[in-house]
Amino acid sequence: MKKIISLIFHSFIVLSVASSQETPIIPTPAKVTYHDGVFTLRKDALVVAPSSLSSVAMLFTDDINSLNDYHLTVVAKGKTEGNIKLLSDRNIVHTEGYQLDILPGSVTIRASSDAGFYYGLQSMKQLIINGSGALKAQTITDFPRFQWRGVMLDVSRTFMPLNLVKRYIDHFSLYKLNVVHLHLTDDQGWRIEIKKYPLLTEIGSKFDPEFNRMGGYYSQDEIRDLIKYAHARNIMLVPEIEMPGHAVAAIASYPDLSCEGTRPKIHTFFEGPSIHEEIFCAGKESTYKFIYGVLDELCELFPSPYIHLGGDEAPKATWKKCPDCQKMMKDNNLGNEEELQSLFVKKIGDYLRTKNKTLVGWDEIIDGGMLAGNEVLMFWRGWKLSEVEKEVKAGFRVVCTPTTHCYFDYPYKSISTRTIFDYDPVIPGTSEKNYLGVQANFWSHIDRSENNIDKQLFPRALGLAETAWSNAENKNWNAFKTKALLNISYLKERNIFVYSDSTLIQ
Ligand code: ACM
Ligand code: ZN
Repeated sequence: MKKIISLIFHSFIVLSVASSQETPIIPTPAKVTYHDGVFTLRKDALVVAPSSLSSVAMLFTDDINSLNDYHLTVVAKGKTEGNIKLLSDRNIVHTEGYQLDILPGSVTIRASSDAGFYYGLQSMKQLIINGSGALKAQTITDFPRFQWRGVMLDVSRTFMPLNLVKRYIDHFSLYKLNVVHLHLTDDQGWRIEIKKYPLLTEIGSKFDPEFNRMGGYYSQDEIRDLIKYAHARNIMLVPEIEMPGHAVAAIASYPDLSCEGTRPKIHTFFEGPSIHEEIFCAGKESTYKFIYGVLDELCELFPSPYIHLGGDEAPKATWKKCPDCQKMMKDNNLGNEEELQSLFVKKIGDYLRTKNKTLVGWDEIIDGGMLAGNEVLMFWRGWKLSEVEKEVKAGFRVVCTPTTHCYFDYPYKSISTRTIFDYDPVIPGTSEKNYLGVQANFWSHIDRSENNIDKQLFPRALGLAETAWSNAENKNWNAFKTKALLNISYLKERNIFVYSDSTLIQ
């Protein structure tokens, strides 16, 4: 019965989308031109793709075939009539762009990169999901507004098993999100194997026994597997190693990393202070040697040109008392501990540059004023908008993740799907080219079940996709709402626990 009601509901929405002439794709494509007629996808249609594109085509056919009784196949050569054809086209200049021509007789997807084909096929997938196989003839010309369309997953506070992260990658990539920022370390846990420093996972991935809570970590082989999985779906994994603050798990593993050299306990978030005083010592050469050792393995492992070093919420009380930190300040003519953090960040940035990597940090890294200028700021402190405006005007590149719009751990009553949908990250009077993009942050300090994580992410991720990909002038809340309801039905069928956001579902 539930299935029948859902079917009726689904058909009703399909009809209303079709009648509103809005192609049911999230995020809204850059340009859609409608033609006469309909393309009907045969259950046994072929996807004709050169062998270099067979894996991207097979991801599509595997998905579609798993939905119902389709049995699409990928072939290198075949007739165009009635089928879907992938054609390499150098005239598609945007690396993530594509052109999708749906004509009554055939479908052609043109792109100049795997990413473009992947996205053309994701658009096809959404049309099939939301249109029962009968697709209105149309030409879609599409490319993103922003190059960084991300979600940060805090896998430190609540460790997320590999398959859960893969499940999110599947559903983020359907909506053309292309960055998963992994917050791999924090006070509550170190979640990545570092071969040079085995205690980081032997000690640092576990809570102290009195807290009776599970930890966990990813081996380097698992990370390699995850990178491959994400890359095939055009998702870049950006690793974050938090420093100098939020580093209790590392300090519990190697106490000499701190100024005092004593071993702290690994608390759960709510049983310890929300911000711990213990941070890395910025005065000892041995701290830098350790960080460089970790970064060597991280840079080897992750193809991402970006490495995130955290940098937020670092209390400086221990630095004030530490002879090594004070000596470092004196030797470098620094006036205060903020400048010492700035020197610390600069040293890491210089090291990363020797490995052709760009440092990304939470926006506190601008405090102290000693950066080289090529670092990327992750703007999170919503109340510091005017400072960020100043830095963007000075030429810094930013990824916008403000607490006012992008914190997906917050309840829906403070950040709804509508809030993130309505967000435009570009501050009036600043240049859009300095905005790498937008990202939602999902902090997991509350111990989250999988269903609970799903609800925090969906349906807000759909609004995020729209803000990150679509041109501001193409965004239309009412049209989005109709399309979102269709997608919510699909996500529920795929066992995603979608929150009943009252801005979407009245
Ligand atoms: C942050 O939310 N502390 C980056
Ligand atoms: Zn120190």
